[in-house]
Amino acid sequence: MNEKLIEKIERLKAERKAVILAHNYQPVEIQEIADFCGDSLGLSIKAEQTDAQVIVFCGVKFMAETAAILSPKKTVLLPDKFAGCPMADMITAEQLTELKQKHPDAVVVCYVNSTAEVKAQSDYCCTSSNAVEVVDSIAKDKQIIFVPDQHLGRFVAERTGRNLLLWPGYCIAHTLITKDDIKSAKAKYPDAVVIAHPECSEPVKDLADELLSTGQMLEFVANSPAKRFIIATETGMIYPLKKRNPKAEFIPAGSRAVCQNMKKITLEKVAWSLEDMQYKIVVPEEIRIKAKRALDRMVEILPSKISKD
Ligand code: 13P
Ligand code: SF4
Repeated sequence: MNEKLIEKIERLKAERKAVILAHNYQPVEIQEIADFCGDSLGLSIKAEQTDAQVIVFCGVKFMAETAAILSPKKTVLLPDKFAGCPMADMITAEQLTELKQKHPDAVVVCYVNSTAEVKAQSDYCCTSSNAVEVVDSIAKDKQIIFVPDQHLGRFVAERTGRNLLLWPGYCIAHTLITKDDIKSAKAKYPDAVVIAHPECSEPVKDLADELLSTGQMLEFVANSPAKRFIIATETGMIYPLKKRNPKAEFIPAGSRAVCQNMKKITLEKVAWSLEDMQYKIVVPEEIRIKAKRALDRMVEILPSKISKD
């Protein structure tokens, strides 16, 4: 069954001269058929660099939108239009406008997990791998509004020593991981290195040895002498870690940390997406130009920190 579908996807991909990009949290079969797998920003950069004119983005909407903001001449397809990121939708452009009105001198930093409209209202964008550097680059006397993830925001505040004005957004999947999950995994595997995503809650992060984005997790494990790792992030991450490090052991910290939206992408939907050229992600030009400014500022600060592999 899958072989037939995969053949169909390959044929349609060639006909459409398309490229398939998949986030590290995607189902295994999607990561297997993808041309590139990676973190949210790495994939957008791939989308910008590829010669392909059609991009099937296997991830959630804000990721496909970011690709469309950076590559407006390409056709960006999201195989399921309902694959959104609940955290990105926890702040609207109107709510951000209101907040800015209350703090007119503040600089706004938005996590890439945000809508195009929120990016358009922001001064800087950041990812979990470069949020600390982005905030560090802002003049010390400036007040900073950080949206929408309170947990990434607290991590950045701690690392930079800055007092950030945080929006109370959060990731449902990451906050399902508890400190007891880490404690019981650690009791079973005391030698394991605990790696957590900065979107985890503070009690979980307090128990972690390393706080890393998904791209940084792959890099860290590849260079670590350790043989066992407890992974506190969305469970899909275990697959690329294991694939690249077959001799190491990876223990998911809690099986509940599943992003239901990431799992909405299926092989059937990818085939249909290529066949019907749906769903096209288009960002209105006025919003796109403003949102791109925030993304460009991030890239300008950190060209070497952003993985272009
Ligand atoms: P990364 O950019 O670290 O891949 O994270 C994206 C995300 O959605 C985490 O929940
Ligand atoms: Fe959004 Fe969390 Fe899913 Fe990442 S894992 S896409 S932050 S809901």
